Amino acid sequence: MERFQKFILLPFILAASLTGLGFCYSILNGPTNATVLAGSEARFNCTVANGWAILIWLLNTNPVLTVINSHGPIETSDRFTSQSYNNSQSFTSELIIHNTQLNDSGRIECSIQKIDGSSFAFLSVQVNGTLLIKNSTLIVKENTTVEIVCEALGWAPAPDITWMTNDSLIDKSRYVTQQSQGSNSLYNALSVLTLTPMDTEILTCLADIEALPSPQNATIAVIVGNSTLENNYSEDSTSTWVIVLAVVFSVVGFILLIILIWVVVRCCCLKKGSTYENEVRKISVKKKTDDRLGSRQRSGSENQGYVPEEPPYTGQIPTVVSLPPMSTKFTVPRPDLHTSSALKGRPQRHTDYPINPKKIRNVTHV
Ligand SMILES: *[C@@H]1O[C@H](CO)[C@@H](O)[C@H](O)[C@H]1NC(C)=O
Ligand SMILES: *[C@@H]1O[C@H](CO)[C@@H](O)[C@H](O)[C@H]1NC(C)=O
Ligand SMILES: *[C@@H]1O[C@H](CO)[C@@H](O)[C@H](O)[C@H]1NC(C)=O
Ligand SMILES: *[C@@H]1O[C@H](CO)[C@@H](O)[C@H](O)[C@H]1NC(C)=O
Ligand SMILES: *[C@@H]1O[C@H](CO)[C@@H](O)[C@H](O)[C@H]1NC(C)=O
Ligand SMILES: *[C@@H]1O[C@H](CO)[C@@H](O)[C@H](O)[C@H]1NC(C)=O
Ligand SMILES: *[C@@H]1O[C@H](CO)[C@@H](O)[C@H](O)[C@H]1NC(C)=O
Ligand SMILES: *[C@@H]1O[C@H](CO)[C@@H](O)[C@H](O)[C@H]1NC(C)=O
Ligand SMILES: *[C@@H]1O[C@H](CO)[C@@H](O)[C@H](O)[C@H]1NC(C)=O
Ligand SMILES: *[C@@H]1O[C@H](CO)[C@@H](O)[C@H](O)[C@H]1NC(C)=O
Repeated sequence: MERFQKFILLPFILAASLTGLGFCYSILNGPTNATVLAGSEARFNCTVANGWAILIWLLNTNPVLTVINSHGPIETSDRFTSQSYNNSQSFTSELIIHNTQLNDSGRIECSIQKIDGSSFAFLSVQVNGTLLIKNSTLIVKENTTVEIVCEALGWAPAPDITWMTNDSLIDKSRYVTQQSQGSNSLYNALSVLTLTPMDTEILTCLADIEALPSPQNATIAVIVGNSTLENNYSEDSTSTWVIVLAVVFSVVGFILLIILIWVVVRCCCLKKGSTYENEVRKISVKKKTDDRLGSRQRSGSENQGYVPEEPPYTGQIPTVVSLPPMSTKFTVPRPDLHTSSALKGRPQRHTDYPINPKKIRNVTHV
């Protein structure tokens, strides 16, 4: 039995001794492809047969770490460290890249500084971006088609977007996904799903990249609303306008009402006080509009002088509104204009407006 065992072991021992010989050592197992998320660490193994002298790790052709058989690993950067696994027949160096960056992506090479003594693999660093559907719920009318937008921002590479409704995959023909690359070499994707919901549906947008253990997802509940419900929702914008307009109109109406009340109250007060004066003012205002005599009419305040002369008018307050103005128009204003134009108006205005005197003359003729 012992002989038999030895007989079986012989080839292994032979192989081991052969690899142990200087001329035959080589890389037994090179690194393998890795895909990691940015910020995490990446690990690569390189197993060499005994007899090796030096092992060099290169990232995109730049040496990042060296292991010397007699010395051990020589680490010059915090980002690149290693672990060693030693046994009688082989040696394994494990390179650890910490805090991987997007630009670490590329070729990882293990070299034993010998012709054909190198092996390589690829590192892919990916970025887990964000995924969102703007609204979490959407209430739609029956038989209406809606577009649901799912937005993936800041990914590397561009994620695969798929959609699910409740728990089943939606056919690719029902959505369109567009990709774009940002300035920071990250990708954005916009997926638009066209949908005519018949029933309440929970829609899920999934974004996947290789480095993610499971796809990122965003959901929206699409509720087929009742006419009343959906009116409230879909016409939200118009209803707010209606409300705004209603408020504006009511406020304006209120202000007008207040002005009206103020005017009425004012009139009453004036009636109580010197209505004659008031009427004279009215007349003067009319005159203003007619003649545009401006300040000259102001001198109508001299009318006050007339108040004591003709008190009967004040007595006729109630009817004054309709009839007396007519009479006053003809009786009172004339002296006004005479006095005003004669006393104050002319000397000043004469030079300014030659038209005024003419008009005044007309009045006096009448
Ligand atoms: C490793 O990645 C490279 C580049 O992505 C690819 O060409 C190669 O086939 C991959 N190797 C394996 C074993 O997957
Ligand atoms: C490298 O090899 C060691 C020892 O066999 C093992 O524990 C480790 O998981 C390996 N690492 C990789 C990235 O394969
Ligand atoms: C690995 O072990 C061998 C002996 O088994 C030793 O000579 C060699 O220096 C060790 N290498 C490392 C890197 O520890
Ligand atoms: C890789 O990107 C980082 C920042 O993300 C930067 O600091 C570093 O210099 C870049 N390395 C190379 C080789 O471009
Ligand atoms: C990817 O990003 C999302 C959102 O930022 C986060 O919820 C998720 O945990 C991330 N996944 C991984 C594996 O880091
Ligand atoms: C999403 O909700 C906002 C208010 O929260 C609304 O203004 C917007 O129109 C909604 N978008 C869709 C597509 O319904
Ligand atoms: C929606 O469409 C179905 C079938 O086309 C029809 O039976 C139903 O009356 C429609 N409902 C409304 C509110 O238009
Ligand atoms: C989807 O799920 C919602 C809530 O779970 C349910 O009300 C609705 O009937 C489902 N729709 C379909 C088409 O299965
Ligand atoms: C969405 O993501 C959450 C955690 O982020 C997970 O629990 C859930 O199962 C995911 N849904 C789908 C449909 O993948
Ligand atoms: C809408 O609501 C009314 C009562 O408000 C109900 O009778 C009707 O069945 C509802 N329709 C749907 C489609 O839910």
